[in-house]
Amino acid sequence: MDVRKAVIPVAGLGTRFLPATKAIPKEMLTIVDRPTIQYIVEEVVASGIEQIIFVTSEGKSAIENHFDYNFQLDHVLKEKNKVLLGKELDMISNLIDIVSVRQKKPLGLGHAIWTARHIVGNEPFMVCLGDDLVSSNVPCAWQMLELFRDVGESIVAVQRVPADQTFQYGIVEGEANDRERTYKVKRMVEKPAPGTTGSDLAIIGRYILMPEIFEILSKTTPGHGGEIQLTDALLALSNRREMYAYEFEGTRFDAGDKFGYLQAIVSYALRHDELGDAFMGYLKEIVKTL
Ligand code: G1P
Repeated sequence: MDVRKAVIPVAGLGTRFLPATKAIPKEMLTIVDRPTIQYIVEEVVASGIEQIIFVTSEGKSAIENHFDYNFQLDHVLKEKNKVLLGKELDMISNLIDIVSVRQKKPLGLGHAIWTARHIVGNEPFMVCLGDDLVSSNVPCAWQMLELFRDVGESIVAVQRVPADQTFQYGIVEGEANDRERTYKVKRMVEKPAPGTTGSDLAIIGRYILMPEIFEILSKTTPGHGGEIQLTDALLALSNRREMYAYEFEGTRFDAGDKFGYLQAIVSYALRHDELGDAFMGYLKEIVKTL
């Protein structure tokens, strides 16, 4: 069965980024010339997904507005004959079919995904976390969808992290497999205490999930941090049927963290068609003055 829908949870408060995110959703913080969330939406669109389901909360309407048609702006741009800009805004509002659901209580990532169950229905679906930007030649979601066509089972994206950082992630213990960069999941644990796992395979915010996850999530009790954790439900799913971890090709940035956000800005600016060369020149100049 094809994967047609992607759930993007955007209900989080963005506390790691306060005060910047006091009045602005963290997903709307800009990386060079577009908000973080647009890179993720463009990634799933480029990978062939047909519908996005945003799981939102109060104060997140700027995200919906960003992907909507803005009559007043369109009118003003036409009057001023700003044709190219008008076309770009048109492109953004026509990118993909978008539906929103509200997560009424901040009960955790697992609960946020469960909130989308009626819209996803009984079909495999993708999950993309708004904080995780992946820069790659082939979109990360595309790479995972290609593997899904082959294995037909749930997949979590992973990358190797230094041992002293495993406590910040969901960690997968897996067994290498005939397919390149792919592991069969044996165990997974959300944010293990330092020294309690031998694995360095960290879950990054891209998943393809079988719809059975909803029934499991409905029974998942609060785990790490007192929240309903997606990782706990994934572990239960992996005990019922096969699940794969996929070490994607590309560089991941944690755009919800101040340092990760800065790294993303520098990296995306250096590869920007119009600004890249000038920005590189500027960086070389300031490095000389240090
Ligand atoms: C979430 C997941 C975690 C994963 C991480 C990747 O955690 O629960 O398993 O490793 O995203 O970004 P969060 O960073 O939201 O605490």
